[in-house]
Amino acid sequence: MDASYLIECASLLLRWMHVIFAIAWVGSSFYFIWLDNSLKPPVDPALIEKGVGGELWAVHGGGFYNPQKYLLAPKKLPDELHWFKWESYSTWLSGFFLMGVLYYSQAAVYMIDAGSVIQTPGAAVMTGIATLVIGWLVYDGLCRLLFNRSPLLFGAIYYGFVVIVGLVLCHLLSGRAAFLHVGAMIATTMSANVFFWIIPGQKKMVAAMRAGQTPEPIHGKRGKQRSVHNNYLVLPVIFCMLSNHYAFIYSGPQAGLTLAVILLAAALTRHFFNLRHKGIYKWQYPAAGLVLLMIVFVAHAPSAPQAAAQVPHTTTLGDIRPIITNRCLACHSEKPTKMPAAPNGIKFDTDEAVLANAPKIYQQVVQMRAMPLGNLTGMTDDERVQIGRWFKDGAK
Ligand code: HEC
Repeated sequence: MDASYLIECASLLLRWMHVIFAIAWVGSSFYFIWLDNSLKPPVDPALIEKGVGGELWAVHGGGFYNPQKYLLAPKKLPDELHWFKWESYSTWLSGFFLMGVLYYSQAAVYMIDAGSVIQTPGAAVMTGIATLVIGWLVYDGLCRLLFNRSPLLFGAIYYGFVVIVGLVLCHLLSGRAAFLHVGAMIATTMSANVFFWIIPGQKKMVAAMRAGQTPEPIHGKRGKQRSVHNNYLVLPVIFCMLSNHYAFIYSGPQAGLTLAVILLAAALTRHFFNLRHKGIYKWQYPAAGLVLLMIVFVAHAPSAPQAAAQVPHTTTLGDIRPIITNRCLACHSEKPTKMPAAPNGIKFDTDEAVLANAPKIYQQVVQMRAMPLGNLTGMTDDERVQIGRWFKDGAK
């Protein structure tokens, strides 16, 4: 087994784990937000006497459930208490390893492109990791500074910060790495919230209660602030993580701006759901999000490549073979030079393989302009026009 095959296996395994852990984390977090927003004050005097501030009834999986939330805490803590933390930690860990396997070990391909300011893999990796750390330090500083101020003010300032990070990263790295790192930065902040504030705060509350003291409400307040932030950050993060499968969204000169618009659309959509749990329907939020997305999609509609010069007439494979060899084989061949193995197993060494993949080549090179990846091999518009003519002439 060679190294490239092992990288493929590691990436599949880590991606699988990462998605499963993220479902567990986001799922439980969505559930609790929904629960919190849906609780109704109890009517039963016995519940009120126990200190219950809200309850609800639900039916699921063939059973009836009656969760109850205490105003501060029950008079006596049960011996066994379930903690939600590993969902978050395992999501971060698997995500970080996945990024290491894909992006940091292949930084020359994934983190750098023809237009990025940074052109050495080492510097690209350092920039990526620094983004995660700086992102947390700035967020945490803002939280402390604006603790008792309006959440909207905090949201506006933090959003401004994320937009600036996105613009700077799109300048320094490939658009693909920039989008992923903005997502990873926010996700790191979310996990750090759980690790540094939410869980320690809860531990202090439980310790105080076990010692027979009243827990200080500040811990609960802080945890709540961070947890509300996490809730709004989920949808933007998931968008960033998926974006690297769609070249049109992260390429182009305005990629940083695109990212800013989409993050806003995602947070607005989340706000709608949070209100809806409370029975308030504000359709203007998802509608605004949808309009923003439509603007992004229309603005990114690919234009057909225009030939600058008189391009030679290309009708047969022989005519475009040199283009494929020069622009694609660095990655798509038996022995690629730019990657450990041909991505998606797509190789253009033989004529048969080129012919068999003709529609995909046309789509990726001419219609979407997604290939060559980051245009690392410097394909020209003239060459795209040639491939387009060859395909329209029947790809023979
Ligand atoms: C620098 C490396 C690199 C170069 C050069 C490159 N590709 Fe790719 N290609 C990739 C990667 C990586 C993928 C996997 C998809 C992804 O990660 O976005 C891919 C995927 C593809 C796919 C499959 C897309 C899909 O949706 O299944 C096609 C088709 C393709 N490339 C065609 C080409 C053609 C044609 C060229 C030359 C004009 C080319 N590529 C040059 C790296 C490269």
